[in-house]
Amino acid sequence: MVSCRRAIMTIGNELRPLAAVAVGLPLAVALAEEGHDVVCVDVDARKVEALRAGRSYVDDVDSARLAAVSDRLEATTRYADLARVEAILIAVPTPLTENREPDLTPLVESARSLAGVLQAGQLVVLESTTYPGTTRERLVPLLEESGLAAGSDFHVAFSPERVDPGRTDHTLRTTPKVVGGLTEACLERAVALYELVCDEVVAVSSRGRRALEAAREHLPLGQHRACQRARHAV
Ligand SMILES: NC(=O)c1ccc[n+]([C@@H]2O[C@H](COP(=O)([O-])OP(=O)(O)OC[C@H]3O[C@@H](n4cnc5c(N)ncnc54)[C@H](O)[C@@H]3O)[C@@H](O)[C@H]2O)c1
Repeated sequence: MVSCRRAIMTIGNELRPLAAVAVGLPLAVALAEEGHDVVCVDVDARKVEALRAGRSYVDDVDSARLAAVSDRLEATTRYADLARVEAILIAVPTPLTENREPDLTPLVESARSLAGVLQAGQLVVLESTTYPGTTRERLVPLLEESGLAAGSDFHVAFSPERVDPGRTDHTLRTTPKVVGGLTEACLERAVALYELVCDEVVAVSSRGRRALEAAREHLPLGQHRACQRARHAV
């Protein structure tokens, strides 16, 4: 029986890195602290330079924690470096437009860049805050410009980033992580990934009312809506 952790990360005997595209640094550092190699991709070269110099640019990660995983956390502006990773977590910005709609331009640009290097067998998870249907209707078609089929050649899931910067009562590890998958196999793989760094992972699938009920108990209204979004967002 191959343990869950290894089952996610290994193809043959190779332990493959994870990747964080513009993801909150806390998630990338948490995965590295769990012993995984993490590639952080950001188009902002200043942030890449800061990470390479061991300087954290977010309050939730002090530079000492960053230094402690410097041998496992690689920062780059090159999407090409994603071709060798196992899973890719995307949290590019989705600023609100005047019409209070999320501007998906950074997501579209990121997805197009990723489609150019996407490999069969990879898992892609969208973490950016966005409206229901974004993953299935916008991200998947862009990733399939790679020629690969979502759900069969590669896996896709959605898991809204929910870390509230500065809060100590709800951290990355203690905030229930809500995950929706394009397929059951996509969901299972994404859940196994987040179980590496989150105490509770709420798998929300089309049959996931139970999970939604479970999640509701832990969540203030705002966050309950996150579940609803996750349920409908894939
Ligand atoms: N930060 C939070 O506290 C928080 C909490 C909950 C949800 N979210 C959501 O997470 C997402 C990211 O938020 P944020 O505050 O981290 O955003 P941010 O504005 O800090 O942007 C994150 C990074 O994305 C990079 N980026 C932009 N376009 C890119 C591209 N095409 N490829 C690679 N990198 C790119 C930027 O250079 C930046 O460093 C948003 O959808 C936000 O709503 C954030």
